[in-house]
Amino acid sequence: MADTLDLQDIQGLIIRGYGNLKAACYILLEISTPPPAKIWLSALADTIATGQTGQGEKALNVAFTYAGIKKLGLEPKILAMFSNEFINGMAIPHRSLLLGDVEESSPEQWMWGGSGTRPIDMVLMLFAVDDRELSDVYNTYAKTFTANGLTEVLKLDTVDLGNKEHFGFHDGVSQPVMEGSPQTETPMNTIKAGEFLLGYPNEYGLYTDRPTIKPAMDPKSLLPRDSSGSGNADLGRNGSYLVFRQLRQDVRGFWQFSDEATKNPDGSSNPTARIKLASQMVGRWPSGAPLLKTPQQDDQQLADANDFAYYQSDPCGYNCPIGAHVRRANPRDSLDPQPGSEQSIAVGKRHRILRRGREYGPPVDPAELLTVKKPNAEDQDRGLHFLCLNANISRQFEFIQHTWINNPHFDELYDDADPIVGTHYPDGGTFTMQAKPVRKRVTGLPRFVSVVGGAYFFMPGIRAIRYLANPTRAGLAPALVMPEKETKR
Ligand code: HEM
Repeated sequence: MADTLDLQDIQGLIIRGYGNLKAACYILLEISTPPPAKIWLSALADTIATGQTGQGEKALNVAFTYAGIKKLGLEPKILAMFSNEFINGMAIPHRSLLLGDVEESSPEQWMWGGSGTRPIDMVLMLFAVDDRELSDVYNTYAKTFTANGLTEVLKLDTVDLGNKEHFGFHDGVSQPVMEGSPQTETPMNTIKAGEFLLGYPNEYGLYTDRPTIKPAMDPKSLLPRDSSGSGNADLGRNGSYLVFRQLRQDVRGFWQFSDEATKNPDGSSNPTARIKLASQMVGRWPSGAPLLKTPQQDDQQLADANDFAYYQSDPCGYNCPIGAHVRRANPRDSLDPQPGSEQSIAVGKRHRILRRGREYGPPVDPAELLTVKKPNAEDQDRGLHFLCLNANISRQFEFIQHTWINNPHFDELYDDADPIVGTHYPDGGTFTMQAKPVRKRVTGLPRFVSVVGGAYFFMPGIRAIRYLANPTRAGLAPALVMPEKETKR
């Protein structure tokens, strides 16, 4: 039976992506003076949107880097119970190699979170129905920062492109659903809560490592108790790790490459072939329709289709290429030791993520980019604030990124990293389209997506935030006026 989720203690972003709240921004903060910041945080806890809060007009969520959690004053032995990936961070040299953050994507080049940039302790995520409402909410919070020991390092804005990402494809179609959450999904797509939330059993039937503490260290019983039965207070329960990567997209590069690779013998462009190649690289058509179900042309009717597996109906990749982005980011039933079996699906369930990203930068029409060959004003910084939630960064996000996305030998391919987000060899990557009688290949793929910032965060449960804030004096600092909490429906 599914565990009951403590929805009122789980931050809302873990339960849903706030599709009704079209405007969003992420404020990266440094905790300059911890004592007032902790008091601020304890008041903030009352305004955080939870998994139980209804669809209001705005929502706020918060997460901390390891540096931030450390500043809040936890004992070293409790700090050591967080995962190594979180403790060491995204930007250490070993991890950069693992994630493919090299050359122009290396942390030395990043705008934030990198080796030469200002420290980031926490991120405040604000969501609102429109830009005006968002700006009001932002201003209300921003006024409280300085007086409460916080310094704004950077404000990352987002843009609403409908349900598309910048290359022009429907994004946000396939998401796993957590057992016990209000949504329902197919069995293949329903995943144990412990894959996304700490303090619940995961797909191995185990509890992922997390900080738990002796009850004596939580005399006010602020924290939930460890449901695995140790009797300890559980600082991790209802929390999740947030992976945040700012991914810049070279929209011109993507479409020019697709155009060049599909030109007619007389040198003219072939728009139908261009869109087909781009869709083969993604694994879905611009509408979202999966190539597995409609390999020859787009079909709006299938825009949200997600109830399919690959190996059973397309083991050789004739419909959806084996190396397409969606097929490698979630191979569904194609995994060893026995592709096409229940066992294969069970293995896949240990490598899922909840994606919660939003686009940034001005929209652009790919057709316009193709008419002008040289970079111009249209080539502004744009891309995806890639956010995902998971309970085990190394087994989930990092595994997908390293072993599937960036692996040139994925599923017996030869030199094919992910065609749209992968890191390729210096002379460019290869993309193979399995076909009868012979496969087709395009070569010289440049990198279309680069990393310009990022960090690992921990998004605690509401009770854990109160514990971390643990105010030493009652009442709020005078400068602190919090916006009212989002109303329940
Ligand atoms: C700018 C970078 C990226 C773009 C433009 C992009 C685009 C897309 C698109 C268009 C889809 C299909 C629609 C959907 O199912 O939501 C998709 C699915 C997906 N992407 Fe990405 N993506 C990017 C980066 C990443 C990264 C870095 C990861 C993981 C490390 C990732 C993991 C996934 C997963 C897990 C799916 C769902 C696959 C499925 O369940 O069928 N994506 N992406």
